[in-house]
Order: sequence, then structure tokens, then C-alpha cells
Amino acid sequence: MTNQTSRPKVTVCRGIFPEVLAQLESVFDVVHNQQDDVWSAQELIERLQGQDGAFTTGSERISGELLQACPQLKICANMAVGFNNFDLPAMTAAGVQGTNAPDVLTETTADFGFALMMATARRVAESEHFLRAGHWTRWSYDMFCGSDIHGATLGILGMGRIGQAIAKRGFHGFGMKVVYHNRSRLAPDLEASCGAQYVDKATLLAQADHLVLVLPYSAESHHTIGAAELALMKPSATLTNIARGGIVDDAALARALRERQIAAAGLDVFEGEPSVHPDLLNVPNVVLTPHIASATLATRKAMAQLAADNLMRFFASGEVLTPVNTLAAR
Ligand code: GLV
Repeated sequence: MTNQTSRPKVTVCRGIFPEVLAQLESVFDVVHNQQDDVWSAQELIERLQGQDGAFTTGSERISGELLQACPQLKICANMAVGFNNFDLPAMTAAGVQGTNAPDVLTETTADFGFALMMATARRVAESEHFLRAGHWTRWSYDMFCGSDIHGATLGILGMGRIGQAIAKRGFHGFGMKVVYHNRSRLAPDLEASCGAQYVDKATLLAQADHLVLVLPYSAESHHTIGAAELALMKPSATLTNIARGGIVDDAALARALRERQIAAAGLDVFEGEPSVHPDLLNVPNVVLTPHIASATLATRKAMAQLAADNLMRFFASGEVLTPVNTLAAR
């Protein structure tokens, strides 16, 4: 039981579900942000000064500078599977535990990746805008013809849990041929379970009718898809990014879409989001969504609960459920 007189101090950096906040408030002294302001780097430092723990989202950058200014901080629990907002080496050096929110969002995010890919291939958004604008006056044989999903080749770059869940949908549900590229090849039984064949990156780009990006962002994966990679893709291909902004060179992609070097793209994540490259807003053959791949109520609640559970477990026992770094024994 947490002692009322020495309760850990925790800052919840963004608005969260009231029932999850209530659990945290029952065991911690909580600074919350239920008005859901996005704090600047300086404001974040101010709100974390003297605090023992932080409930973070992908919007809060936990930098070396912040860690120096907040030496009392012991844990940052991210309500996201990605944790590229953490300077992980700096956190580990400072003895700060990081946690993320994996697994609970896998199927929901895979559903969305598939939906965005289908919307992109079948021109759902573009044709909806056309209809709303009052342009639909007659049927025509080639109006908004897109490309098939069933029987097509699904390419997956980044074959972690979410990539595998998307592959299963394509292989078992839509009879797709599935090819993938990943830093490491999956074990044969895992490959068989999602009907996926390992290929090198150039082959993936050349073969995919629908390429889906599901790899984590890091300095190494910055602009993994740029002008050179787009040039290797089929002119009929689609590209879907549900991973992170920065993995795709958005300016190069806008150019490729405008010049019909590829047919279409579906993007849930952007370089510098929530800003979106203006050139992407000016091409018709792209479906744009505001980073909502994990956004179902049930999944967002599960993610928030997992982040809260990590904080509660950490201060009760020193253990966490889903660590992203390993600290030297204290
Ligand atoms: C969402 O982008 C996440 O990392 O959970």
C-alpha cells in the first residue's frame, strides 16, 4: 500500500480517461492536464520538476536536457507502442525507466492499416469529396477506377506484431500474396502463419501492389522511403504509412503522387505532425488521417490502463509490465 504521507508525485502530461486518472489519483499526488494543453519543451520541464513519474504520450519529448533538469524523475510511461519521443540512451544513463503500450493495440491498428490501404486503393476519400462537391451527375465506365486488394501483392515493411496482423488479414482474408522486409527474418512458423515471404527491400518495393509501412522510427529509419525508393515502385502501386512521420520523405511522396509515379497513398502519420506538408494537401490521390490508427475507445482505454499499470506497479514493486529499457541494478 502506498503511504499517504509519502505518495509518489506523478505528472499526467495530457488529458486522459477520467477513470484512469482517478486510479492514479488514488495512489499518487497527481499533476494533471485534463484541459489537454500541449506543453512546450520548457513547460514540460516545469511540470516535471520534482516529479517522480510521468504519464506521457507520443507528444512529449523526454530529452537529455529535460532529464538533467528533472533529476528526481524515475519513470516515463508512454501511452503509445512507439517511443521515439524518448531519448532512450539518455533515460537509461539517468536511471529513468521507460515503458510503452504494446500488444493491446495490435489488432485495432492492423484493422486501421488495412482500412486505410483499402480506402487508398479504391479511392474512397477522393470519390467522396467529388460527391459532396456536387460533381456526380452521371455514371461513367471508368469513374474512380482503383485497384484490387484481393489477389494483389501486399508488401509489408517492418514485420513486428502489427505487420504480422496486417499480413494475416491480407493472406487469410483477401487471398493476397504477402511479401515483407524486416531487419530480421521471422521464424518459419511465424512466416507460415501469415503466409509471408521474406524479400530484400528493393524486391519488396518492386513487387508490392500495396506497400504498408509498419516499422519503428529511429535515426536509421529516417526517410526510408524517399525519391529513390518511390522510383522503384510500380506506377499502379499504393503506399500506406501507419508507422511514423519521418519514415517517408513527404515532399518526395507528394511529388511522386502528383507525377503519378505511384497511384495513391494513405497516410496516418506525417513529418512534423500535426502540421501536414502543404504539397500533400494539394494532391487528390492521397487519403489523409490524423494519427488515429489505434483510436477505438476500447483500445485507447487499454493503452491508458497499461501506462497507468506500469506506473502503479513501478512505485509498488520496482517492476514494470512493458519496459523499453533495462536499467543497471540499483
Ligand atoms: C501510436 O502511434 C503508437 O505508437 O501507439
